[in-house]
Amino acid sequence: MDDDVARTLFHASTIQARLDEMAQILTADYEGKDLTALAILNGSMMFAADLLRRLPLQLQVACLSVASYHGGTESSGVVQFLQSALPEVKGRHVLLLDDILDSGRTLFAIREKILRECAPAAVNVCVLLRKRKERAEDVPADYVGFDIDDEFVVGYGLDYREKYRNLPYLGVLKPEIVVS
Ligand code: IMP
Ligand code: MG
Repeated sequence: MDDDVARTLFHASTIQARLDEMAQILTADYEGKDLTALAILNGSMMFAADLLRRLPLQLQVACLSVASYHGGTESSGVVQFLQSALPEVKGRHVLLLDDILDSGRTLFAIREKILRECAPAAVNVCVLLRKRKERAEDVPADYVGFDIDDEFVVGYGLDYREKYRNLPYLGVLKPEIVVS
């Protein structure tokens, strides 16, 4: 796998150190609140697992599976909910956890649906990565691990055609690996 990576963007230790900082802020912000951390799968699996274990709070964890990509490196623009049931979050503070804020369509669609259908106390957004770009949907990210340039990255949960999620660091693939 490492041979396919042109450049490391963030080493595993850099990611973990940033999670320590994010966890401190989240712990202070959510102290005493009824928190449901809602991990958007599959991309946020590593991020959510590592971040949530750093929060010494009485929180609930829920997951939501969506598909917004169909294989390549460009968002399809269509957000598909892969399960019909939404989590029970009435009156609770929902923290959406996702791997990356790219076009904004995924988090926008999820946020809208939860606000409309679940009557939460609040919905906030926490992402590991945020791309510097014009977004199709303006989603305010309340907690951001790293701002990055607008390039396609893999590792630490993020995939290219379902591969590279298990890389322990974040990197950019060699151009010859990205075929589309
Ligand atoms: P959106 O364009 O903000 O809706 O992002 C949709 C999803 O696309 C994200 O949750 C990721 O799973 C995926 N995605 C966006 N940019 C990248 C990337 O650079 N690498 C891998 N996946 C990405
Ligand atoms: Mg993906």
